[in-house]
Formats: sequence, structure tokens, C-alpha cells
Amino acid sequence: MPLVRIRDLHLTVPSTAGPVNILRGIDLDIARGEAVGLVGPSGSGKTSLLMVVAGLERATSGSVSLDGQEITRLNEDALAKLRRERVGIVFQAFHLIPTMTALENVAIPLELAGVRNADARARAALDAVGLSHRLTHLPGQLSGGEQQRVALARAFAPEPALLLAD
Ligand SMILES: Nc1ncnc2c1ncn2[C@@H]1O[C@H](COP(=O)(O)OP(=O)(O)OP(=O)(O)O)[C@@H](O)[C@H]1O
Ligand SMILES: [Mg+2]
Repeated sequence: MPLVRIRDLHLTVPSTAGPVNILRGIDLDIARGEAVGLVGPSGSGKTSLLMVVAGLERATSGSVSLDGQEITRLNEDALAKLRRERVGIVFQAFHLIPTMTALENVAIPLELAGVRNADARARAALDAVGLSHRLTHLPGQLSGGEQQRVALARAFAPEPALLLAD
């Protein structure tokens, strides 16, 4: 069974100019441990697809299952639990918390998830992305690439089954 199974996925959103058909019949399987790169022009729907797979946006029709669980049928609470326990996301615009240091941005989500050695795990994740020397910097004091690496460390530190990196 693939880790991610997408079938005939459609996403249509309303706009003042009428409905916009962003995703039109996507089929995709991703195996556990597989790395998939999604390539397409700006505006072609890559972020939209990731948002649906992450459960942050509802599909209009079609199915997405993660580990055999059909996410299109889950309620908001179940989706939030699934995201917390199974999915890591690096957003295109990072979404770091501006008032927290690099270390806090990685460690606090781990603490909230009940990880016992959150601080050590966060330090190791930031070390893995080459940011041991930036632990106490706020996002506003980091370069774009450094912020992106903090976001990456935050996403993989909990060891999610699925890592989505926009
Ligand atoms: N809420 C919305 N209402 C109307 N149109 C939308 C909405 N969200 C996205 N779009 C449109 O859907 C299309 C796909 O957007 P998306 O952000 O998924 O593209 P992308 O492939 O990630 O682009 P980029 O490479 O620039 O990040 C774009 O044309 C965008 O304008
Ligand atoms: Mg995008």
C-alpha cells in the first residue's frame, strides 16, 4: 500500500470571475521512503496540491489517503491529529513565529507534541541543517535561506511519516 494515494483529485475555488479549476484529476502514488519532486510553472497548482494532501485545504472531489486512511472523510479534529502525528510541512513562506528564536521555533512544537527531550531534538535538527550558530536568533535576524532551514528543521524534527516541502 502506498503511503500517499491520490485519485482523480479536483480542487475548484470560487472567485469574482467565476469558479477556478486549480486541480483537475490528479492521480499519484507515493511509497514510504520515496522522494518525489513536483515540477511545474508558477501558478500551476503545486502549493494547492500540497495543501490538500496536508489536509489544510478540502478537495472538491476525489480521494487522498495517507497510510490507508481516507483524509477527505476526516473531520477537523481528526485531521489536526493526523497532521500533528504524521505530517511535516515546510510552507513556501516559512511561517516561523516571529517572536520566538530559531531554537524555540523548533523545540516548542515538539514540547507541545509531548516529546520528552524536545530541546535536544531541536538542537540536533538545527545542527543537521547547519544552524547551530543561529539558535538564539529571531526569524527577523536570519537570512531567507536560514529561515527556510529553520522551517525545514521544524518540519522533520518530529520524524513525520510524510514530509511536504513547498
Ligand atoms: N483562493 C484562491 N482563489 C482563486 N485562485 C486561487 C486561490 N488559490 C490559488 N489560486 C490560483 O490557483 C493557481 C495555483 O496556485 P498555486 O499557489 O497552487 O500555484 P504554485 O504552482 O504553487 O505556484 P508557485 O510556483 O508560484 O508557488 C494560481 O493560478 C492561483 O492564482
Ligand atoms: Mg507555490
